[in-house]
Amino acid sequence: MSSLSLKQKLKSIAILTVGGYGVFALVNVFKCNEKFYKQVVMPLMHRLDPEKAHELAIFIAKHRLIPKSSYKDPAVLKCNFFGKQLSNPVGLAAGFDKHGEAIIGLRDVGFGFVEVGSVTPNPQLGNDKPRLFRLKEDKAVVNRYGFNSIGHDRVVESLDDIRNVHHLNYTFGVNLGKNKSSADSINDYVEGVKKFAPFADYLVINVSSPNTPGLRALQTKVALEALLKAVVETRNNLSQVTKPYLLLKLAPDLSYEECKDIAEVLKKKSCKVDGLIVCNSTVERPESLQSDHKSESGGLSGLPLNDVSTKMISEMHKLTDGMMIVGVGGIFSGKDAYNKIKAGASVVQLYTGMVYEGPPIVTKVKRELAELLMADGYTNVTEAVGKDLQQ
Ligand SMILES: Cc1cc2nc3c(=O)[nH]c(=O)nc-3n(C[C@H](O)[C@H](O)[C@H](O)COP(=O)(O)O)c2cc1C
Repeated sequence: MSSLSLKQKLKSIAILTVGGYGVFALVNVFKCNEKFYKQVVMPLMHRLDPEKAHELAIFIAKHRLIPKSSYKDPAVLKCNFFGKQLSNPVGLAAGFDKHGEAIIGLRDVGFGFVEVGSVTPNPQLGNDKPRLFRLKEDKAVVNRYGFNSIGHDRVVESLDDIRNVHHLNYTFGVNLGKNKSSADSINDYVEGVKKFAPFADYLVINVSSPNTPGLRALQTKVALEALLKAVVETRNNLSQVTKPYLLLKLAPDLSYEECKDIAEVLKKKSCKVDGLIVCNSTVERPESLQSDHKSESGGLSGLPLNDVSTKMISEMHKLTDGMMIVGVGGIFSGKDAYNKIKAGASVVQLYTGMVYEGPPIVTKVKRELAELLMADGYTNVTEAVGKDLQQ
């Protein structure tokens, strides 16, 4: 055998090997293989700067380059969300698709619904970079984006296109924030209600992000009452026939007394929103955190928030006599979602889980949740809502 033919043979073997791996990788990426994403794709993504990886993920979702999930949602996961039938109760939490660019791609991933935002009235850049940190050892993220937003008008254009050009009949909400420099916080939310009412199924009054100075003070009794009165009245006076539902998103750092005050405000007719989102990221730093980035300022999300959020869901469920709750915080498995549902959440959302496991986490959570529900004899997820509180 000549040395040239040996070289050629080695080259062929190399091409076959690399090509084989390439095909193997592509098949696994497009089949949304859970293990492959967790062990190969996401660690590769994590070689990128976190904010760049977020931008890349949005680009991929926006251009619908994420493979469509082939998982067919089982009947046990069907649920009613403010009169809309969802094929499953697992939604995407606010903060991923801040500008409403990627809703259709995110539906393809298998989310039952998507929440866009937070959106501020005027465009603003948010905080200086770096402002997003992975806490790998803790399966957590710290962010201090500070409401980077392209502003109401441009997000409205995008949503108008989705509803009126693509005729998308899919449930999504818009999470409303306020501008950092705003002199009139209440007006920022009122404007948001008016602007997004024609497009969104629900609107979120977000007074719980930790990265806008003074924002969380809007959760205190007097301020909250004034804010909720204004947004409820604005929504009720809209001329459109189908009006959006209003949800209030709360921080996990509220004391029990503060939660009680909020529940009292929510019982007033003039402040009656339709549901709660429990909860946003936390400013607390549990002792258990291992990662180098644990001391970065901002909101901590992911696994360390899981139990905190579940506990708060059951507290708010009791304090509000069973108000509709969207449960969010640290969901990585079907069991995490199930615990929140049994604590009183009607539907759930996740974000940080996707940072670590990629889009296949959506199918994994749904599949495991369906198995758990059926094992406990439920025929529908709604039957399990608040079950832990009734025992
Ligand atoms: C990078 C990042 C940005 C976020 N931005 C927002 C936001 O703009 N508005 C908001 O209400 N919540 C925002 N959140 C909070 C999430 O919606 C969610 O409440 C929180 O992360 C807990 O869920 P998780 O543990 O599944 O991520 C953000 C979270 C992350 C990780």
